[in-house]
Amino acid sequence: MGGVVATFDFIVVANRLPADCTIAEDGIAHWSRSPGGLVAALEPVIHGRSGAWVGWAGLADTPFEPFDADGVHLVPVTLSALEVERYYEGFANDTLWPLYHDVIAAPGYHREWWESYTRVNQRFADATARIAAPGAIVWVHDYQLQLVPRMLREQRPDVKIGFFNHIPFPPYGIFSQLPWRRQIIEGLLGSDLVGFQRAADAANFSRAVRRLTGTTPDAVGTKVLHVPISIDATIYDELGKREHVRERARDIRASLGNPRKILFGVDRLDYTKGIRHRIKAFGELIESGQLEVGDVVLVQVASPSRERVGPYQELRDQVELMVGRLNGDHSTLAHAPVAYYHQTFDRDEMAALYLAADVMLVTALRDGMNLVAKEFVATRSDLDGVLVLSEFTGASDELRRAVLVNPHDIDGLKAAILSSLEMDPAERASRMKSLRKKVFSHDVAAWSAKFLHELAHTKENP
Ligand code: G6P
Repeated sequence: MGGVVATFDFIVVANRLPADCTIAEDGIAHWSRSPGGLVAALEPVIHGRSGAWVGWAGLADTPFEPFDADGVHLVPVTLSALEVERYYEGFANDTLWPLYHDVIAAPGYHREWWESYTRVNQRFADATARIAAPGAIVWVHDYQLQLVPRMLREQRPDVKIGFFNHIPFPPYGIFSQLPWRRQIIEGLLGSDLVGFQRAADAANFSRAVRRLTGTTPDAVGTKVLHVPISIDATIYDELGKREHVRERARDIRASLGNPRKILFGVDRLDYTKGIRHRIKAFGELIESGQLEVGDVVLVQVASPSRERVGPYQELRDQVELMVGRLNGDHSTLAHAPVAYYHQTFDRDEMAALYLAADVMLVTALRDGMNLVAKEFVATRSDLDGVLVLSEFTGASDELRRAVLVNPHDIDGLKAAILSSLEMDPAERASRMKSLRKKVFSHDVAAWSAKFLHELAHTKENP
């Protein structure tokens, strides 16, 4: 062993690599783009720089050597099957995820999950410490890796460490449930800069620091910032203008039987997304005869996610029961009220669906940002289409001219759906124009530039 290890000046550390690995029957590894907004958001940032990305390849018990892909040095971190169960499915996605999303589902608190989280975070920190050049900039991402900043700082006081939390940071009354709340706060305070989506998240974090340490982030050398993430708006704008995408949008309409109006929802199949609330509101409108089957259709794409985690399995059953009942009760031989897909679609198909939609439904009960809302807006250079947006998404801070809804209020949601379906074209265009201005003036390049600028200007470590 030994040998010279290559080092890098700019390192992204995230739970997932920007590529997923699957092993085919012939035993050969195949790499494909990872799902999730983070990858889409960071790809344009890391491109063009000579950087490295430390992350998990998505398979248990499968070690890989580091390799280069599209100008990025990928450093795979290996997780055992037990760690996938305890660190990823357990602590990350069945403790922190529900806790940080307003306890929509009940978080499980298990000491062996916490121990696994600690061990895996240490592995990520060690892998990063090995490849960081002197004074490197290290950007750690999201709730899966909150202990990494402190663990890295202990080994490498010379590097600049930024942390960005992609999901909400909960109010102290909720955060304080966590048996390991102090360790999480201390982990994050290893950073020079901690970034959040919304002002409220940053305030919740600062308050947790004060309550648990008796001091402020600033006093221990950690700057706190809120800077909302975004998308590469130009890519979606261009996709929406391509002839084959426009053609595909027309085909989609035709294959749905050319309904007068299409409602569209696309989410990871996650209980934070308010999919059940959306189907309930739409179902009541069909049942009451306010909407007519064949005249209006709801297209719902629910991409598979975290399928071995209990609350996700329950949600799938609930959603599919609702869709099955609604379609069973109300379909005609020619039309069904809901076209439901438990599938993942590529970017071109997504753009065609955004174009085909008359009303986009984003009804999350809690969401750090919601990039789907921004993708829809960026795709609609035709200035058509209405965005119905939950006020519990980070995106609603910026996208004020969407039709804002409280998804818990089913009657309010029904009224918003009806008025959006009948909104006159001039108002649709005026709203879309102002939404597009927002998305284009703060795209993903502006997000990362702002974060990295602030990180570069944090104080030198003592
Ligand atoms: C959210 C999280 C990301 C995560 C993604 C997909 O957007 O903020 O950190 O990667 O969901 O979830 P998964 O569990 O498949 O990585």
